[in-house]
Amino acid sequence: MKYYLLFGPPGAGKGTQAKLMVEKHNYHHVSTGDLLRQEIAKGSELGKIAKQLIDNGNFVDDSIVVEMIKNEIANNPGVTGFLFDGFPRTVAQAEILDKMLAERGEKVETVISIIISDALVFERIQHRANIEGRKDDAQPEIIQNRINTYHAKTEPLIEYYTKQGKYHKIDGDGTIEAIFARIEELL
Ligand code: AP5
Ligand code: MG
Repeated sequence: MKYYLLFGPPGAGKGTQAKLMVEKHNYHHVSTGDLLRQEIAKGSELGKIAKQLIDNGNFVDDSIVVEMIKNEIANNPGVTGFLFDGFPRTVAQAEILDKMLAERGEKVETVISIIISDALVFERIQHRANIEGRKDDAQPEIIQNRINTYHAKTEPLIEYYTKQGKYHKIDGDGTIEAIFARIEELL
């Protein structure tokens, strides 16, 4: 089983590129953000806990997202590969993932990192706010909090995966098609 990670700041285009990669390669796309929003929509206990955190642009506990990932892996045994989008997002999550996969005799294949500037993050998210109606897209302070959290908690993963020789950076500024071509070249 192959495990690919889509990495990058909020609004970098992880979800957009994941859709194209799934169409072409038939990977199983797992966005922890999408899964959490589904729980919120269902009004589940987990959704209630997550809502407050997500709406304010704060991370959900590592243990919650790890559990969701475990379930996705267990419930989809026949897929060609997994494409994780927005997970792992902390070094602790990456360490748990490595351990979890090692127990199965598996590992992360490649980290595809889509990088854009903070200014472009704002532009993209403010554009999306009018289309998707995500609450965490609606206010500049919340967008800024997500950017700050990314720099503080998620960026350390760049070093983590660089040390493993798995980190591949892609310039995320350009058309959707151009970015997809860059990813395809890498894969
Ligand atoms: P999540 O849903 O993962 O949000 P995010 O990381 O902030 O990223 P986005 O989904 O906002 O952006 P994206 O990179 O997918 O960009 P998109 O393709 O939509 O997480 C939400 C929250 O859930 C977190 O804040 C946290 O609270 C919680 N959470 C999730 N995972 C967690 C974890 N592992 N641990 C703890 N908490 C977790 O593109 C953005 C916009 O730009 C779209 O409108 C798109 O059409 C447009 N666009 C894309 N590409 C281009 C392009 N090349 N040119 C022009 N426009 C483009
Ligand atoms: Mg997304």
